[in-house]
Amino acid sequence: MTGFIEKNGVLHVDNIALPDIAKEYGTPCYVYSASVIKAQFTALKEAMERALPADRQPLLCYACKANTNIAILKLLQTLGSGLEIVSEGELLKGIKAGFTGDQIISTSFGKNESEIKACLEANILQFNIEAPEELENVNKFAAQMNKTANVVFRLNPNLSGGGHSKINTGRKEDKFGNTAEDILTLYKRAEDMSNVTPVGLSIHIGSQVSQVEVFKPGFEKLAELVGILRAQGHTVTHTDIGGGFPVVYHDEANLDLDAYAQWVRDIILPLNTQIQMEPGRYMVGNAGVLLAKTQYIKTTPSKNFIVLDAAMNDLIRPTLYEAYHGIRPVMGHNAPMETYDIVGPICESGDVFAKNREIPTVSKDDLVVIQSAGAYGFAMASNYNTRTLPPEILVDGDNVAVINKGQTLEELMGRESIPDWL
Ligand code: LLP
Repeated sequence: MTGFIEKNGVLHVDNIALPDIAKEYGTPCYVYSASVIKAQFTALKEAMERALPADRQPLLCYACKANTNIAILKLLQTLGSGLEIVSEGELLKGIKAGFTGDQIISTSFGKNESEIKACLEANILQFNIEAPEELENVNKFAAQMNKTANVVFRLNPNLSGGGHSKINTGRKEDKFGNTAEDILTLYKRAEDMSNVTPVGLSIHIGSQVSQVEVFKPGFEKLAELVGILRAQGHTVTHTDIGGGFPVVYHDEANLDLDAYAQWVRDIILPLNTQIQMEPGRYMVGNAGVLLAKTQYIKTTPSKNFIVLDAAMNDLIRPTLYEAYHGIRPVMGHNAPMETYDIVGPICESGDVFAKNREIPTVSKDDLVVIQSAGAYGFAMASNYNTRTLPPEILVDGDNVAVINKGQTLEELMGRESIPDWL
């Protein structure tokens, strides 16, 4: 058995007991399961293999904003993934992990000069264009560098995919994408440019898309626009159908990969384009936990608080999106249930991982895990309250490795300086 499993009353990741990890590396720390990442990648790949012919398989471009650790990137690269990036930093990490330019697509919003030039230097597969001036810039810098860049235009389909409002991206009031009308103009403009080649369209409705049926009208709008572009004489060879797959945080249903794959088969496949996908959370979300220790149990007239050593700076999702994360003790699962507010030590009332959560009774120094923290966990961590970033640990079977050693206070303070005129 692999992944996060209980053995003899102790939570393990694969063959490694979480208390051993806490003892060796301290808490809080992120712990990831390579086997879960492999299983997620394989499940998506196999669903696509069941639905689409062998010579029309999509390029699965892992959206690495979800978890940018280089070891995780390497793992996905060895599995055969491509990469979706949104910054120069992500590009550099991807290259370091072994991805080649032809496996990388850039979907960033507001691409800056340095990033565009670095992407051109790396000969990436394509730039997904978010705005007219971005297109002008890609063409300008490509001309300076004597390159020709593939561009695709992101369609804003004016669809809402559930999830939290802050991670919906496909509504007309969102900053992302271009209207179908604008794309018709931009495609023509790009064709007249010397250093870009318009090759297709992209779409990304949002993240943790809970109403998965919204993918279908999204695909239909994409396909309709491909038809219009072709009728106007344009060449369309690439369709990027985005990411946004939901993972299980609480009691959500598992994404029906086969239903999704069939929408791809029925709507996108007939377009005869190279198909690309950008899953982020799906690959890594359920593959990680934030391991933390109970510092105190504080009881007030109205609440029982578990005060963890982890805080909102380590995992901001509950604070930022009111996101639900499962929380469970690492041992003692059969203890009587108790209701707690589970909080961190940061000086904000919003530093709460869970409110009124019923879990087995926990005592001072007990370990707990905050589950499904592999995506947008460490990636969004900060130094708020001058707290160091936690380490990240990867487990695969019997193998354990520190894939990010975290920070020391000395390193943190070493970045700052007092001017001599103070
Ligand atoms: N493609 C584009 C263009 C994106 O903007 C995103 C995510 C993805 C792909 C990957 O989406 P996924 O498959 O992971 O849903 N911090 C938030 C999520 C922000 C997602 C941003 N864009 C959270 O913790 O829920």
